Amino acid sequence: MALLRPDLQAFAGYSSARSAALNGEVWLNANELAWANPADAAGTSRRYPEPQPSALRAALAGLYRVAPEQVLVGRGSDEAIDLLVRAFCRPGIDAVLATPPVFGMYAVCARLQGAPLLEVPLIETEAGLVADIDAVIGTACESAARLVFLCSPSNPAGSEIALADVVRTAQALQGQALVVVDEAYIEFSSQASAATLLADRVQKAAEGRGFAVTRLLTNWAEIAGPQLAPVTRPVRISHARTGFGATLTLLTTGPMAPMVEMQLPRLRDRVNACYGYNAVSRITLTQTAATGFAEGQAAFSHAPRPDRAPDPAIVAQARGVGQQFSDPTLAQAMAQLAMNVASRRT
Ligand SMILES: Cc1ncc(COP(=O)(O)O)c(C=O)c1O
Repeated sequence: MALLRPDLQAFAGYSSARSAALNGEVWLNANELAWANPADAAGTSRRYPEPQPSALRAALAGLYRVAPEQVLVGRGSDEAIDLLVRAFCRPGIDAVLATPPVFGMYAVCARLQGAPLLEVPLIETEAGLVADIDAVIGTACESAARLVFLCSPSNPAGSEIALADVVRTAQALQGQALVVVDEAYIEFSSQASAATLLADRVQKAAEGRGFAVTRLLTNWAEIAGPQLAPVTRPVRISHARTGFGATLTLLTTGPMAPMVEMQLPRLRDRVNACYGYNAVSRITLTQTAATGFAEGQAAFSHAPRPDRAPDPAIVAQARGVGQQFSDPTLAQAMAQLAMNVASRRT
């Protein structure tokens, strides 16, 4: 992050109300229509998408074997190249290095940003046109390169850059330049992705998840809220082999289970907001789980307080209210509202 343009280091950027993890289903401030309409009867096209779609991010992270927080979803890699040049290069000062003949967008983005362009041509060898890594390092060091684009496999030459050479370049330029490995054609490569070089960072991110679990336990009262916290207790997080999100098991009492069940989607959102990404894909309830959190063996200090069980007739009535709405989120909200109103009356 120290390589980021100094004038942007303290810049928080744009944050929509949605990315601030506020609760809400309809964003009138974003001019989203609250109701279905003839042009969109199913009501599926009238919402802004998630800024960084968490399910997609988790799936891509599984595919590339990195942590979800290491994935930035964009509109094609051209956008990523443009963002990198804009974020790291001050016009007229920080140079972009590219290895022609190569994909032209690096030079285009440098030009648009007013960043100097350094060109280190591919060299002809028996193996074809390959990147001259020694010259890349030498030129980048001499000429204040801030971004070094290595295209592997190369467009158009098709040659690959050995991971050892990527590491050598990154080490030589540490603290000076960011080495970007463009693997747009990785599917045609015979070697592992440069993302595998981030393995130790993936491990750190996983440790970060451990911290998130601890945070989940110690902040359960705020996460679950005053209604659910006293009657629920997180007891286990299990990770599926496929890596598509974990399952959180909550302990609750039999009489409270229907009320808790109704609130699970909202609770899952709040749990994931605590993790910072869609870490938990499912929450299940148990009435018999032993105490103690399996992951990290963290002690759980918040014992469930016995609570007056809601009247089964009210629960049934609230469910009936919810069933009148086809949108599941709205159905859940309406059922909860009915439950609150009816409980207050009794
Ligand atoms: C090496 C390389 N990187 C990036 C891109 C841009 O890909 P996208 O279509 O994802 O923006 C291309 C497209 O031709 C490319 O050849």
